[in-house]
Amino acid sequence: MRIYVPLDAAARALGADEVAAAITREATARGIDVTLVRNGSRGMVWLEPLVEVSTDLGRLAFGPMTPADVPALFDDLAAHPRALGLTEELPWMRRQTRLTFARVGVIDPLSLAEYELHHGLRGLRHALTLSSAEIVQVVTDSGLRGRGGAGFPTGIKWKTVQDAQAPQKYIVCNADEGDSATFADRMLMEGDPFTLIEGMAIAGLAVGATRGYIYTRSEYPDAISQMSRAIAVARGAGILGDSVLGSGRAFDMEVRVGAGAYVCGEETSLLNSLEGKRGTVRAKPPLPALQGFMGQPTVVNNVISLASVPVILDRGAAFYKNFGMGRSHGTMALQIAGNVKCGGLFETAFGLTLDEIVNDIGGGTATGRPVKAVQVGGPLGAWFPPALFDTPFTYEDFAARGGLIGHAGLTLADDSTDMLAMARFAMEFCAIESCGKCTPCRIGAVRGVETLDRIGRGDASAIPLLTDLCETMKSGSLCALGGFTPYPVMSALTHFPDDFAAHAKEAAE
Ligand SMILES: Cc1cc2nc3c(=O)[nH]c(=O)nc-3n(C[C@H](O)[C@H](O)[C@H](O)COP(=O)(O)O)c2cc1C
Ligand code: SF4
Repeated sequence: MRIYVPLDAAARALGADEVAAAITREATARGIDVTLVRNGSRGMVWLEPLVEVSTDLGRLAFGPMTPADVPALFDDLAAHPRALGLTEELPWMRRQTRLTFARVGVIDPLSLAEYELHHGLRGLRHALTLSSAEIVQVVTDSGLRGRGGAGFPTGIKWKTVQDAQAPQKYIVCNADEGDSATFADRMLMEGDPFTLIEGMAIAGLAVGATRGYIYTRSEYPDAISQMSRAIAVARGAGILGDSVLGSGRAFDMEVRVGAGAYVCGEETSLLNSLEGKRGTVRAKPPLPALQGFMGQPTVVNNVISLASVPVILDRGAAFYKNFGMGRSHGTMALQIAGNVKCGGLFETAFGLTLDEIVNDIGGGTATGRPVKAVQVGGPLGAWFPPALFDTPFTYEDFAARGGLIGHAGLTLADDSTDMLAMARFAMEFCAIESCGKCTPCRIGAVRGVETLDRIGRGDASAIPLLTDLCETMKSGSLCALGGFTPYPVMSALTHFPDDFAAHAKEAAE
């Protein structure tokens, strides 16, 4: 009997280890030979711990499981009270286009044999038959854009590094993942670490870099351990090292752990932190592509950007580019969280409307109350009210409506949410996380909190001041922390003026 129990941190937080232990106990007691695989999560977090049992028909899913539900797994599977049916047939799975996350939850994350059985290493093997310029061209033609937030075309970034002349170049994977509602990087690193290794090795071949670093945060111990173990396996198998897959071309990598400051996800701050310095933002230019880690040309890419590269090299640029809408090509790993009924990771081609994501896929709020707003793109993203739920999920459509998709985290809020409090939270977050390098952010965010407190006390005359301050932060900040904090603040004010006026009304009464 082959049983899968996720090793994913979210599943573990919900009791997966206890369920796994109960399975081992029960199997021993009954004298049944069980192979227990600790896989990645399928992304249906509301069903975790999600246990799967291999059958002739496919894998059957059971969840959410507790240790008390385990004995019945060894009786009649179909009659199990937590039986959900075939995993691949669940509506959440069927509706997805899993390109980057194709193997997550499916394979044993540290089994290279299973990785290869599921198309692993094909992209890298193909890349080894191409010149550096050809690899960059494939990535450019695929239309892949950075999944970390800014949406910059990955191929163009790689070309800049490729063209730079330097004795040493680097690939830095940004796995800091500080945005609220985001966990795609973590899930990928825990559930399919070889994909990231493969993507980084391809990036190295493309730009002529021989060293790579994965920069992540100390709050991700499971991802750190899984990545480090996978790197050791890959090195042992000759995927990393002096001669990648026997090609004579070198690439090796390691994991570096930061202390978890939000601003250390900003690429220049990250590079400072990686160099052992304080994580403050560097002025650009010079671009990291030309003077990045240790002053050398450096590709800084998000986990999902790099992990999307193997499938592009394997299936071709046109295959990937054909997914999506407008200039937003390929797929995006949506992370649906907050007050949501069915939260989790859902990979899909760009173009679903916000309404489809929030209501059809997410199932609305966990509280069952009407959705009041959704914040898209982390703590620097705008709040979208239901009136804008027809917005297609693309870089362009969100920008056109004063928002951003960022790393594709979505936080749902129900109608009991006070949007003034949300605006204050955004400013306070900026004040706490500011690196302090520039005045509009360092001072502006503190003044922003004070101004919102004035509004909260009923002083409506402070509203124009808040608008002014947001304009200054937007145009005067050195990086997007100060520059984008006005988005959640101003969208809350624009779409929910009543929440701001209500306090003035209360004060007048
Ligand atoms: C305050 C701040 C935090 C950021 N945090 C992250 C992060 O956690 N992960 C990430 O990939 N990009 C983050 N970014 C974006 C990076 O600066 C950079 O654009 C990205 O790593 C480039 O990779 P990509 O082109 O693959 O998206 C952040 C930017 C800012 C301004
Ligand atoms: S905007 Fe804030 S975080 Fe960014 S450089 Fe200025 S002070 Fe630092």
